[in-house]
Amino acid sequence: MHSAVASGVPFPTVGLVPTMGALHGGHARLVRQAREENDIVVATVFVNPLQFADPADLEHYPRTLASDRELLGAEGCDLVFAPEVQEMYPGYPHAPVVTVSAGHMGEVLEGASRPGHFDGVCTVVAKLWHAAMPPAPAQLRSYFGQKDAQQLAILRRMQSDLDFDLEVRAVPLIRSPEGLALSSRNTRLSPESLEAALVLSRALRSLREAADAGRVLDVEVARTMIRDEPLAHLDYLEVVDHATLEPLSPEELHRPLQREALALVAATIQPVRLIDNCILPAVTPSNPPPDARS
Ligand code: PAF
Repeated sequence: MHSAVASGVPFPTVGLVPTMGALHGGHARLVRQAREENDIVVATVFVNPLQFADPADLEHYPRTLASDRELLGAEGCDLVFAPEVQEMYPGYPHAPVVTVSAGHMGEVLEGASRPGHFDGVCTVVAKLWHAAMPPAPAQLRSYFGQKDAQQLAILRRMQSDLDFDLEVRAVPLIRSPEGLALSSRNTRLSPESLEAALVLSRALRSLREAADAGRVLDVEVARTMIRDEPLAHLDYLEVVDHATLEPLSPEELHRPLQREALALVAATIQPVRLIDNCILPAVTPSNPPPDARS
C-alpha cells in the first residue's frame, strides 16, 4: 500500500470518493487517483434523494451495489459505505429540516433547470465529510470529477465557506478517442446521436484553441456550431470564472483571457441531456500568446 508517511507527508491520509453508485470507468478513475494518493481509500454509494427534483428519476436511478462493490474492490478501495436512506436522514421524508444551501452558485447553469439539486448535493456531501473525517492528525481528501465542474466549484466553496478541514481534489475528465466526455448517459445515445454529440467537444475545443493561442474567444461561433447540429438542442454554453461561476463580462471576452476561466456547455442530443466543460487558460507571463513567445 502507498504510504503517505513514507512519501514524506507527515500524517496518514484518507481519500474519500462519494458516489451514487452505478459505477463506470469515470468513477474507477476517481478511486484510482485516491488509491495512488492516500493510505486509506473510502468510497460511499448512496442515491441521495435530496438531489432529485423528480420522484420518478429517483425511483428509476440504477442501483447496482453488487457490481459497484466489485469495481471498488478491483480498484483497491479499502472500505465501502453504502447506507440506507434512514441511516443518512433519520425521519426521511420529514427530515432533514436544516440543510445546506449552495446559494446563487446552485441556481445558475445546471441549477437553473434543476432547482434544489445543488443544495441536496451540498447537504449529503457535508454529512459524508463529517462521517469520513479521521481523527487528527490524519487528513481527509475528497475526490470529485472535473466532468461535473459546477458541482466541483460549489463543493470547493462549501469546503472553504463552512471551514471543513479537508482537501477537495479534482480528477480530470476522460474523453473517448473521438472527444466525447465519458458519461453513463452516453450508452443511451444511438450511433447517429453519438456522432452528433461530438459537436460539444468540438465547440469547447474551438474555445480552448483560441485561449491557448492568446486569441479572443468567439463564444457565439461556438454556440452556433452546436445550434447548427440538427440532433442537438443547446441549453447553454457559457464562459465563467472557474471558482465563482460568475460569467466573464463582455469586456473581458473582447480581449485575450486575463484570468483562467471555465467553458461549460449543456445540450440535449436526442434523447439525452449531456454536459461538458473545459478549462481555458489565461494569457500570463508563463503562457504568453504565440507571437510574444521567444
Ligand atoms: O456526483 C455525484 O455522484 C453526486 O452528486 C455526489 C457527489 C456523490 C453526491 O450525492
